[in-house]
Amino acid sequence: MQSVPGHILQTSEALQSAGPCTMVLFGASGDLTKRKLIPSLYNLAVSHYLSHEFAVIGFARPAMTHQEFRDKMDQEIKVHAGTNVDPAIWSWFLERLYYQPGEFSDPAAYQALKTLLAEVEERHKTLGNRLFYLATLPSFFAPVIEQLGAAGLVEEQGEVWRRVIIEKPFGRDLASARTLNRDISKVLAERQIFRIDHYLGKETVQNLLAFRFGNGIFEPIWNRRYIEHVEITVAEELGVEQRGPYYEEAGAMRDMVPNHILQLIALTAMEPPTSFDADAVRDEKHKVLKAITPMSPEDVLRRAVRGQYGDGMVQGTLVRGYRAEDRVAKASNIETFVAMKLFIDNWRWADVPFYLRTGKRMPVRNTHIVIQFRRAPFVLFRDTQVEHLMPNQLVLHIQPEEGISLQFAAKVPGPVMRLGTVDMNFEYQEYFGKQPSTGYERLLHDCMIGDQTLFQRADMVEAGWCVVNPVLDLWKALPPRNFPNYASGTWGPKEADELLERDGRRWRNFEK
Ligand code: BG6
Repeated sequence: MQSVPGHILQTSEALQSAGPCTMVLFGASGDLTKRKLIPSLYNLAVSHYLSHEFAVIGFARPAMTHQEFRDKMDQEIKVHAGTNVDPAIWSWFLERLYYQPGEFSDPAAYQALKTLLAEVEERHKTLGNRLFYLATLPSFFAPVIEQLGAAGLVEEQGEVWRRVIIEKPFGRDLASARTLNRDISKVLAERQIFRIDHYLGKETVQNLLAFRFGNGIFEPIWNRRYIEHVEITVAEELGVEQRGPYYEEAGAMRDMVPNHILQLIALTAMEPPTSFDADAVRDEKHKVLKAITPMSPEDVLRRAVRGQYGDGMVQGTLVRGYRAEDRVAKASNIETFVAMKLFIDNWRWADVPFYLRTGKRMPVRNTHIVIQFRRAPFVLFRDTQVEHLMPNQLVLHIQPEEGISLQFAAKVPGPVMRLGTVDMNFEYQEYFGKQPSTGYERLLHDCMIGDQTLFQRADMVEAGWCVVNPVLDLWKALPPRNFPNYASGTWGPKEADELLERDGRRWRNFEK
């Protein structure tokens, strides 16, 4: 397809620079801070989305001075933001970086934080606006918020705002998510709570809304009359790496499904919102999640597949199975792969299967959504082999490449009528170039300007758990007997293929 620069429309909101604020990062010695959060803040500074009146305080257990924290981040930025770090902007940023050591449950540490905040707010004129980012283990979410409340750090007055970003996983099942929602609502109003899902920061994920509702041609056919099924794949090449203890608690289902994958389903299946206002969008997403039919135990047996990777080859390298990973139980029954068939019981989607799968140690890293349209009647092409009559597929490529492709039939040149399948491709990078991005920039900026559209509301999180809870319950009652059941570097256990084969379908696998 010819590459021309896209005609770029920007909303006024996209041009808004965030106002003054101090950001407090709980878990500042962890991975997320150095890999994503600090590089994202730096990227925001580069593109002038950060206020000049801005500062960051890292809060974590290890004892460190402000200078030691700055030195540490200075080392890390080169690794995580590439070599093109602008020295002037980076040193401006470093001057605004502070550190407060402390235990998450120690009230004295919050008093020390309060004193430091007062100094920093005064020095950088941040007007008392505060953004607290909870990049801690989930078990600390409620205790940290309770301490913030007790120390009087999150009360809003007049124009002064106080907001809290909470990482995932939000709870480990429906009951614990409800408890967490209840506990934090004792301290914070819903408008102060930003439950983050970093998938919503990805350009192509946001583009789903633009694609569906900004174009006149797709919405009329976006329903059960024209769409036969939807497939969502989130495949990862990596194993669990250093996250054994976390993963042993979470497993692939909790780690990926109630959050990232259900968000992808919600964006694909929601009704058009009345506006892009946060609650208008979230109301529609919530309705879709509520319309997913809960699975009975029999449904779970038929429509949910779990797997765990064994030894195998990934991209030409021999890798070990999950049970041999660092800090993982030798007989662990934790799943590293999930596939499911879901139904959304509403007028738009009744009887259209939504197949989803996610797994670690798959052949490639690839996230995509396939919308398969109903096939054309065969009558005109009676003499064409059936397997050559592919139905139209629209593929939304989310990563590593971002783009959209449409597969359709075309006549193969020659004297006889033969059909071949061709692809029309749009690649983001080709049109818009590549922006340095971690995926968190937009979300941090949205929080600073108070836009909750891309964050999960309490009712959405609970609706997500309602979908996966019956599966988790049954899996707990019936431990798997055949783990590991897929070799690293493959597309998961054979039962995942059978899930579609029973319906006369096949997963679409992208090998690169
Ligand atoms: C995280 C999960 O939320 O998402 C990880 O905890 C997973 O297990 C990661 O690897 C995938 O994110 P991305 O952006 O690399 O697709």
